[in-house]
Amino acid sequence: MIWSACFIFAALPLLAAHPCQSCHPAQVKAFGLTPMGNAIAPASVLPAGSFVHAASGSIVQSFARDGRLWHRIERGKISAEYPIAYRIGSGSHAAGFLVRVGNTLFQSPAALYRDKQVWAVAPGYERHPRLDFDRRVTAQCLDCHSNGNAADPQPISCDQCHGNSAAHLARPSRANISNPVRLTTAAREVVCERCHLTGETRIGALTIVYDRPRQDLRVVSHVEQLSLSECSRQSSGKLWCGSCHSVHGEPVNITSTCRSCHATLSSAHPAAPAECTSCHMPRRPASDGGHSAFTDHRIQSRPQAASNTTVQLRVWRDAGTPLERERALGLASIEIGERDNSPEMIQSGYRRLAGLINRLERDPEVLTALGMVLFLKDQKVDARKLLRSAVALRPNDAPLREKLAVVERSLGDTGSAIAQLEKAISLEPLSPRAYFLLTECQPAQRRTILERLLQLAPQNLLAREALLSP
Ligand code: HEC
Ligand code: HEC
Ligand code: HEC
Ligand code: HEC
Ligand code: HEC
Ligand code: HEC
Ligand code: HEC
Repeated sequence: MIWSACFIFAALPLLAAHPCQSCHPAQVKAFGLTPMGNAIAPASVLPAGSFVHAASGSIVQSFARDGRLWHRIERGKISAEYPIAYRIGSGSHAAGFLVRVGNTLFQSPAALYRDKQVWAVAPGYERHPRLDFDRRVTAQCLDCHSNGNAADPQPISCDQCHGNSAAHLARPSRANISNPVRLTTAAREVVCERCHLTGETRIGALTIVYDRPRQDLRVVSHVEQLSLSECSRQSSGKLWCGSCHSVHGEPVNITSTCRSCHATLSSAHPAAPAECTSCHMPRRPASDGGHSAFTDHRIQSRPQAASNTTVQLRVWRDAGTPLERERALGLASIEIGERDNSPEMIQSGYRRLAGLINRLERDPEVLTALGMVLFLKDQKVDARKLLRSAVALRPNDAPLREKLAVVERSLGDTGSAIAQLEKAISLEPLSPRAYFLLTECQPAQRRTILERLLQLAPQNLLAREALLSP
């Protein structure tokens, strides 16, 4: 089968029922044909393939059966296989795949890559020691890749860029619908940043970035890069994503865009260039398979070496109040420090939050973060106190209860740990972690506990492997 014909996925048939179709047929059609309009869809059958995942000793296969796409993990004597519910990613660089277990979506460890034109392990699963279909698809994935409906994800909607359209649908007029090109500079950029700025992490509505991209950053977004360009810095916001990319309508002629500001070039410039991006916006190989920029949006004269000065976290656009920023930087430092194994980063986050605790004593996220740092520092009794307060404020947070259970158990209070884990399981019955923590608290009940999980997720590889090894 010809790769190009099957990989750039066919656009969805246009739904005649689309609420904007009758008056804006051209925009509906054009958006449906872009990668953005195609960022999620029910999975269709694709060419079969397989790969070996060395870190876990698994064979992962993708194949068709009964007109559907299936993924399968085989390891030793056992295997698990699911029909694919959704494809995430248009495939312009890569596509991921989602399966449904019970009411929950999980990401398959197999992805399809355009560069190498093969099935291979999905980003983040490379060194996973126990490959399984157990990575929960978060609300965040779906907020950027779909209309955000976790029960039944649909393509990105018009409202995600044009704002709420209820009033416009009732009495259509230019006055009651937002058009990004008519917004102020900052408001216009926020439309694209909502999904195109991942940063290092997001804390509530604030995005946390390094004060300048590092060469080795996993995520250096188009938004951050463009903001570093002289073109953007010295044109007081005239240059924005829409200067070079059109969401509907004809693609932008980028050379003309450049020439609109650079009508004449210096005499030192290489003579009579026919286009501008091959030298000033070169392409780089991808580092994380989906969320790094491929095309350099810094628009430099010549490629510049990365500087070695230290980098610090900051809040994008200095959004929020000073208190909100300080809180976000504290939480982010601890999160990134844990992710990157940096005790200094964790300590700096701890110091920031400890300085705020009097003002934020009823903030469950702050209490949890401080509690977990104290636990790392072996101050378990204080850690427990903070985590218990956090649970009291946020009783339906299953991962939070798992954390408290770990602390309770380390203090020898197995009974409280079990109570927290049972509550966590009742809140999120498909989280394998809670069951495994429970087996550590009740080794004699190990089999019964794992069988409880297998009743809900009969194919769970982790639990089945655990039952095979006594
Ligand atoms: C019954 C017809 C109708 C429907 C349905 C409709 N619109 Fe409109 N739309 C209009 C009219 C009329 C205008 C004003 C055109 C003008 O003044 O040039 C408009 C203008 C717009 C504009 C602003 C264009 C500009 O120049 O700034 C946007 C954006 C827009 N519509 C989006 C939508 C979206 C999104 C939907 C679906 C949720 C939608 N419309 C549904 C009739 C409709
Ligand atoms: C609701 C989230 C969301 C918003 C808002 C959004 N994007 Fe995207 N965009 C995506 C996703 C997801 C992809 C990746 C699509 C894929 O290939 O699967 C993407 C891909 C793109 C691409 C690369 C593919 C292409 O079409 O060539 C461009 C360029 C782009 N977006 C521009 C914009 C601009 C400009 C804005 C603001 C006007 C914007 N986006 C707003 C989610 C969004
Ligand atoms: C903050 C918004 C955001 C979040 C959260 C997000 N993505 Fe993305 N994703 C994007 C954008 C935008 C792109 C387009 C490429 C780019 O900008 O680097 C993309 C690209 C991808 C691609 C490659 C698409 C292609 O055709 O090139 C895949 C696959 C993907 N994302 C899967 C996921 C999964 C799975 C999750 C959740 C674990 C997730 N994304 C979370 C915004 C997001
Ligand atoms: C990813 C952001 C994004 C999404 C999603 C989006 N639009 Fe737009 N829309 C824009 C931008 C930006 C413009 C300004 C012109 C351009 O860039 O093409 C625009 C312009 C328009 C206009 C004004 C006429 C024009 O073409 O300039 C209409 C009408 C419109 N959009 C309708 C829709 C409808 C209907 C949908 C849903 C099918 C939709 N838009 C989805 C970003 C978006
Ligand atoms: C909205 C106007 C605008 C657009 C569009 C624009 N630039 Fe610029 N650019 C500027 C300004 C202003 C400067 C800073 C003054 C100068 O060097 O001319 C600049 C600087 C530059 C520089 C020097 C950067 C450095 O490191 O000193 C290069 C190279 C450049 N632009 C290339 C491009 C290319 C290529 C494009 C199209 C992809 C482009 N520009 C589009 C406004 C723009
Ligand atoms: C000065 C022109 C210019 C501006 C401004 C610009 N881009 Fe791009 N962008 C390009 C070029 C050139 C490419 C590579 C060819 C293509 O896909 O059109 C590209 C590619 C992309 C891609 C595809 C993935 C990749 O890295 O190749 C995404 C996503 C994207 N841009 C997002 C954005 C966003 C978001 C903004 C606003 C923050 C933005 N771009 C602003 C010129 C621009
Ligand atoms: C063959 C590679 C190449 C192409 C194609 C190219 N440039 Fe350049 N550009 C350069 C180099 C190299 C420099 C640095 C020259 C110097 O050091 O004085 C430069 C410098 C610049 C500068 C900084 C100020 C100046 O005038 O020297 C601007 C602005 C610029 N280019 C814009 C453009 C635009 C606009 C286009 C497309 C019409 C373009 N370039 C195409 C290689 C290229």
